[in-house]
Amino acid sequence: MTAQLIDGNALSRELRTHVAERAAVLRRRGVTPGLAVVLVGDNAASQVYVRNKVKACEDNGLHSVLEHYPASLSEAELLARVDALNRDAAIHGILVQLPLPPHIDAQKVIESISPAKDVDGFHVASAGALMVGQPGFWPCTPYGCMKMLESIGYDLRGKHAVVIGRSNIVGKPMALMLLQKNATVTLCHSATKDLKAMTLQADVVVAAVGKRNVLTADMVKPGAVVIDVGMNRIPAGEPGEGKLCGDVDFDGVREVAGYITPVPGGVGPMTITMLLVNTLEAAERL
Ligand code: GUN
Repeated sequence: MTAQLIDGNALSRELRTHVAERAAVLRRRGVTPGLAVVLVGDNAASQVYVRNKVKACEDNGLHSVLEHYPASLSEAELLARVDALNRDAAIHGILVQLPLPPHIDAQKVIESISPAKDVDGFHVASAGALMVGQPGFWPCTPYGCMKMLESIGYDLRGKHAVVIGRSNIVGKPMALMLLQKNATVTLCHSATKDLKAMTLQADVVVAAVGKRNVLTADMVKPGAVVIDVGMNRIPAGEPGEGKLCGDVDFDGVREVAGYITPVPGGVGPMTITMLLVNTLEAAERL
């Protein structure tokens, strides 16, 4: 069996068309949805991510500003910038790109963002809302994964979903979203004793560790849905060196799984799409 691809680029194009339509409706009401992206330092991957986020805004009728500061920016200066953006009526969403330099307390900065503008969904108020099933902003990457499952008409009720990775950005919110759709959820992490025994039972596997080949063909139940959140580079000296790859051994797993998301062109574009959706929501809620 060869798995069907869940194409994140195609799904993103479809969802972004709706975003552009909703943005146009808002603009006719005199409101241009606005996103502020704050980048501190010169992490190469972060620079690519923020450029893609700003471009996606421009392409779909949202206003966006990119504030790029040197790594020497103090925590107090960053908090002051966030405070100004919180009070800026043209800005509906604020995103501070992570990671931040080590002298800045990232959680403190995240908590300084107004929950009404927390389009990344990282504020404790957003995390709490997700936990108790109240309206709030969902973190973009797991939200995008849920949209991918929805796009294939997958009913999660009673299914066993195994999430690998327990980050605040992906693993933990992913587990809560799957639970909200009535899946039975197992959250695995670096101290999990027998990962393969868990994944072999899974109807859905979400791999979100940040390490190549975390999930191989021998670990997957035939027909399972495999969502690959990883974004890694093949190291020098190996076939395909320098190329992007996920956490899943794609070539092996696609022969066993029922559905699989590719890297690139899977979860990555969906993350940006859900950021646009959250920014739009923030503007519509006003
Ligand atoms: N760093 C890696 N992913 C993300 C993300 O989704 N949002 C922010 N703010 N930083 C990130």
